[in-house]
Amino acid sequence: MIEVQGVTFSYPGTTVPALENISLIIKPGEFLAITGPNGSGKSTLARLLNGLLRPGEGRVLVDGLDTGDEASLVDIRRRVGMVFQDPDNQLVAATVEDDVAFGLENLGLPPAEIRQRVAAALEVVELANLRTRPPHRLSGGQKQRLALAGVLAMEPRYLVLDEATAMLDPVAREEILQKVLELRREKGLAVILITHLMEEAALAERVLVLKAGQILLAGPPAEVMQQEEKLAAAGLKVPVTVALGKGLRQAGLKLPANLVTVEEMARALWKLASRK
Ligand SMILES: Nc1ncnc2c1ncn2[C@@H]1O[C@H](COP(=O)(O)OP(=O)(O)O)[C@@H](O)[C@H]1O
Ligand SMILES: [Mg+2]
Repeated sequence: MIEVQGVTFSYPGTTVPALENISLIIKPGEFLAITGPNGSGKSTLARLLNGLLRPGEGRVLVDGLDTGDEASLVDIRRRVGMVFQDPDNQLVAATVEDDVAFGLENLGLPPAEIRQRVAAALEVVELANLRTRPPHRLSGGQKQRLALAGVLAMEPRYLVLDEATAMLDPVAREEILQKVLELRREKGLAVILITHLMEEAALAERVLVLKAGQILLAGPPAEVMQQEEKLAAAGLKVPVTVALGKGLRQAGLKLPANLVTVEEMARALWKLASRK
């Protein structure tokens, strides 16, 4: 469990806090989306979750370990894997496979286990065929996949994806997310998906919406996405399915108000249509 307790954080030299009095619990195995407009504090919150930043006020506990406690940081970072939007800062080695192996070698794992984990991680992100290529000769999207593979190979309990698939095209983005969710089902990995795409956020079990460093909304997608006005005031648009559902209800169709994903909408429409 990750516990964020009354956290306020200000960057040095700034007067307005980037995050103000944030409290939040992330359970093992949970799929949480964090969304919000640019500058609302999403990346700052991400960096607080694994101790890259320490709270000014309040505290962050990862499975009981305090990120303010220097001696716990190595353990905390092993538990909380983080993939950022800009992969260049995360790639270190001369080849794709060495890059994935890098963190594992630092853990002192036996070579056979390293090989097995590297192969499995490259399989997940579909980079196995490029394993001998230098990372700097990959496309932006491929670099993002490689950064993800490096983190997955470490087998974290919590995976924080901070706009980590932003450079991928929509189909690849969906594929990678589905693979990550498969790992979640198989291994109980918690997924914290930071995205400004509401359609993506709607796939989570729970959505947290940040606005100007504060929690604007939190709850299941079906509830959060009904708050169209609040979201619009934060510069966010509800997913197309939600807007469509509202339009269809206003036109007199008897659709439930809690439809968020395309699948849910399709099923509900089919049910209505097949009643005739
Ligand atoms: N290194 C930094 N130094 C000073 N201010 C920063 C720094 N990084 C982010 N900020 C500010 O903190 C706020 C939150 O930023 P950030 O967490 O990056 O938001 P988001 O990820 O939602 O776009 C913004 O006002 C941003 O300008
Ligand atoms: Mg950000």
